[in-house]
Amino acid sequence: MTAFISHLLAWYAVHKRALPWRRTHDPYAIWVSEMMLQQTQVATATPYFERWMARFPTVNTLAEAPLDEVLKHWQGLGYYARARNLHKAAKLICEQPGGAFPTTYEGVLALPGVGRYTAGAICSIALGLDTPIVDANVIRVLCRVFAIPGDPKSPKTLDVLWKKAEELLPSGQSGDFNQALMELGALHCLTPPRCTNCPVQSVCTAFQQGQTEQFPAFAAKKAFTSHNDVSLWIEREGKFLLIKRPDEGLWGGLYELPRVTATPDETIEQAAARALEQLVGATGSVGERLVSLRHGVTTRKITLYAIAVLDVRLPDPLPPGCLWATRTDLARYPLSSPQAKLLAAIQERKKQPALF
Ligand code: ADE
Repeated sequence: MTAFISHLLAWYAVHKRALPWRRTHDPYAIWVSEMMLQQTQVATATPYFERWMARFPTVNTLAEAPLDEVLKHWQGLGYYARARNLHKAAKLICEQPGGAFPTTYEGVLALPGVGRYTAGAICSIALGLDTPIVDANVIRVLCRVFAIPGDPKSPKTLDVLWKKAEELLPSGQSGDFNQALMELGALHCLTPPRCTNCPVQSVCTAFQQGQTEQFPAFAAKKAFTSHNDVSLWIEREGKFLLIKRPDEGLWGGLYELPRVTATPDETIEQAAARALEQLVGATGSVGERLVSLRHGVTTRKITLYAIAVLDVRLPDPLPPGCLWATRTDLARYPLSSPQAKLLAAIQERKKQPALF
């Protein structure tokens, strides 16, 4: 065992955080935690994990739950395909004879939404297999400790990192080793790194060469683009119109106020008129801008407007996916974070009677 591995394991044994998924070896719980942690920080994921495990304690309870409720438990975490995949995979597992969680790397990797990273994490942590992982934390640690050059997002460098992660695995202790790598990335090997008291300082090439800022050598980030999104506020008898998004793609299966992205040559009001016609198949007059907020999706900077629509004439029946909702219904319908904030802002504004 190299000094790097022994220093890291010894440090992890003493300093690891008491995280809820570290109290169990249940592959289902580890799977849920790793799906949550794919694109979410530990501090954010922790309360979601606790609520999820209280409501869906087994793969069976998850498989039997309605998708809306599953998505509701994910509301605010983003990247909702993760929740849809958990639900789909739970159903697949339960449909099989015996209905047990897979016990091989190939079986775990075959689950929807499980890639090389998540399969490696589940298999090493829950099943005791010697499978490597490379995530953003591990990239920082390995690039610095071994002074690995190149953009870690390039296939060539990524390949070097996976090989390194595999070659390092201490047989029989890979679960702890992988978690220790991630823990070091989360607590010390940050951007910028906190090298004081780092347990692997003495064996870190970048530290020894005074080059910790040069690794990992990510290529320059993509430039941001700006967009306007427009959502319609259509109100009738104390209810408002919601639309369910298609199951696939961004915010798939979530509900929202009917929304389009304005084209570069469209005004907010023109985009609202288009949304009314295209999404709701209705006629009406575009009214005032009620509220707006800013949010980001990867490299897109979005300003989201809510526009009131007046004198609406809706088709009967409503187009597929459209429904009337009350404020209390929102406890049931999963919403994206920007839509939840937009609705809260509209409710807030409606409390000012002078404006309505
Ligand atoms: N990030 C991804 N998986 C993790 C884990 N098991 N512990 C801490 N951070 C993580």
